[in-house]
Amino acid sequence: MVNRIHSLGGYIHEYQKSVANPEAFWAQQAENFYWKKRWDKTLEWNFQGPEIKWFLNGKLNLTENIFEKNLYTHGDQEAIIWEPNDTNEETRTLTYAELYAEVNKFANTLKRLGVEKGDRVAIYMPMVPELAISLLACARIGAVHSVIFAGFSANALAERINDSSCKVLLTADGGFRGEKITPLKEIADEALESCASIETVVVLKRTGSDVNMHVGRDIWWHKAVDGQSGDCPATEMDSEDELFILYTSGSTGKPKGIVHTTGGYMVYSAYTFKNVFQYSAGDVYFCTADIGWITGHSYIVYGPLLNGAKTLMFEGIPTWPDAGRFWDIVDKYQVNQFYTAPTAIRSLLAKGNDYLDGKHLASLKVLGTVGEPINEEAWHWYHDHVGKNKCPIVDTWWQTETGGVMISPIAGVTPTKPSFATMPLPGIQPIIVDGEGKELTGNSVEGNLCIKYPWPGIARTLWGDHERFKETYFSTFDNFYFTGDGAKRDEDGYYRILGRVDDVINVSGHRLGTAEIENAINEHPLVNESAVVAYPHDIKGQGIYAFVVCGELSTGGEEGIRKSIKQGVTKIIGPIARPDLVQLVPGLPKTRSGKIMRRILRKVAEGDATNLGDTTTLLDEDVVEKIIQGAQVEVKV
Ligand code: WTA
Repeated sequence: MVNRIHSLGGYIHEYQKSVANPEAFWAQQAENFYWKKRWDKTLEWNFQGPEIKWFLNGKLNLTENIFEKNLYTHGDQEAIIWEPNDTNEETRTLTYAELYAEVNKFANTLKRLGVEKGDRVAIYMPMVPELAISLLACARIGAVHSVIFAGFSANALAERINDSSCKVLLTADGGFRGEKITPLKEIADEALESCASIETVVVLKRTGSDVNMHVGRDIWWHKAVDGQSGDCPATEMDSEDELFILYTSGSTGKPKGIVHTTGGYMVYSAYTFKNVFQYSAGDVYFCTADIGWITGHSYIVYGPLLNGAKTLMFEGIPTWPDAGRFWDIVDKYQVNQFYTAPTAIRSLLAKGNDYLDGKHLASLKVLGTVGEPINEEAWHWYHDHVGKNKCPIVDTWWQTETGGVMISPIAGVTPTKPSFATMPLPGIQPIIVDGEGKELTGNSVEGNLCIKYPWPGIARTLWGDHERFKETYFSTFDNFYFTGDGAKRDEDGYYRILGRVDDVINVSGHRLGTAEIENAINEHPLVNESAVVAYPHDIKGQGIYAFVVCGELSTGGEEGIRKSIKQGVTKIIGPIARPDLVQLVPGLPKTRSGKIMRRILRKVAEGDATNLGDTTTLLDEDVVEKIIQGAQVEVKV
């Protein structure tokens, strides 16, 4: 079992040890796992290549560390507790032994479908136990899973499937979300019109919706699994064999396929889960994320299951049938650790405290947040009303690229401060650098957040594009991993994350590239060009504000065009990327060399044009005046 820190002194001691000799520190953590063959060398790295390898020549299978290693001790214990969307439907639980059998059966199914080690399997599924089973079945046979969030559109799904030439697609007839049904199979069918690499589609029956089954390509999940053995030998993997790809947004248009490998990710997700949440045997842990994002990968599936934890999976949404749903679930299953996003907290806070009436929430020991900065008001509400002043809040900062939590309090150990992610976990060496890449030492500094030494969970590359990996993370500042976030270290040495400093925006905890949204807007037949920026939004944290230049207006007039632009983005990317505000403008503020001055657009979107900074390089100052006049928010001038 993974080592656990129990006290502040213990944390300081571990941290110092981990910095003095990171290799020895991580080797000690890795010793807690079952390896078919121990590694020869703990770490080889350089950030110029970049090339990062952990636990070199170690041989293992991650699923053996979830199952074989633990079945004798807790085979009968619940592994996955599943709460369906509809409160009238029955809960499902899978013990470790049951989950093991299901994973093996599905692993055998994949094998029968011709999936081999290294093949990519695309997963586009609702939040049901079969989703977790798919990930683990891939890991069992060394297939590389690529989960695509079930809110993405056909176009976005196809782009991701094609980028890594997936061989098989796992999906469902539909997914329940509150009162709605997402027609997953229908969307997948549309996507597959342009995906030549997919040979087979396995379709889970979930909603009972009518779907078209393509003969020779599509098979029902239950039929495919039927008769498969519950035994499947674990494929031997090298530490550095790929475990999964997960697409995330960057500052340029195309999504990036973040690649995580087996050994390092296993050690890191397990270590951070146990320490950050202070999970103890028997606890019930509930993370509200979707497995379509990294939080779900690391902290619904891998981290908890590697620790033999009981992990709760919820299919529905926080506001259905009403805004008390999370709290009902907490009481129903006596949840001990609860992990969610600030946007969910803000939306529940906005609904008022009535939804907390009659909820006990007495089982809660630890509360967590992830995905975006948490404002103080939301932090205090969470702390006082949900945690009843007795639960530490772990504000966990990390990224798809980091594999697991990087800067965060250790629950009950690190003294917290509202809206501060506080201190780095052992093994993590954050630094703050100025615009030139000079490290700002000491306390009370603010700048770009970088990490100066590798940790086991760091992404190894971008699928099929190592050059872009280097360019994005290792070229801005020499020899450091650049996170894309701004941060401040306060007088106590505590870190506060200030948000993205690049062209990535964070809407309801979802990462979106402004270029990606602009590309989608520009597909509109009447649009000449566009620029997208974030603006402060009470619930979502950031909202999407699009400035759009149209050649002419259609018969629907301005209102019609705004609407069709929003619909277009929903169709091309998905509802999460739908602009909140669209302003039709006569032109964009550009420099003489043709560069869009986004700074000006951000100021307008923030509603404060009192200090636009240096505008002398602007090609046409009139444009700015017109933009301010037609702004979709009130602007101070
Ligand atoms: C932001 C999510 C402030 C940050 C795990 C980061 C945060 C991006 C926090 C990664 C936090 C994540 N406080 N900001 N506690 N956690 N972020 O890849 O901007 O979906 O770079 O990973 O979310 O988003 P991603």
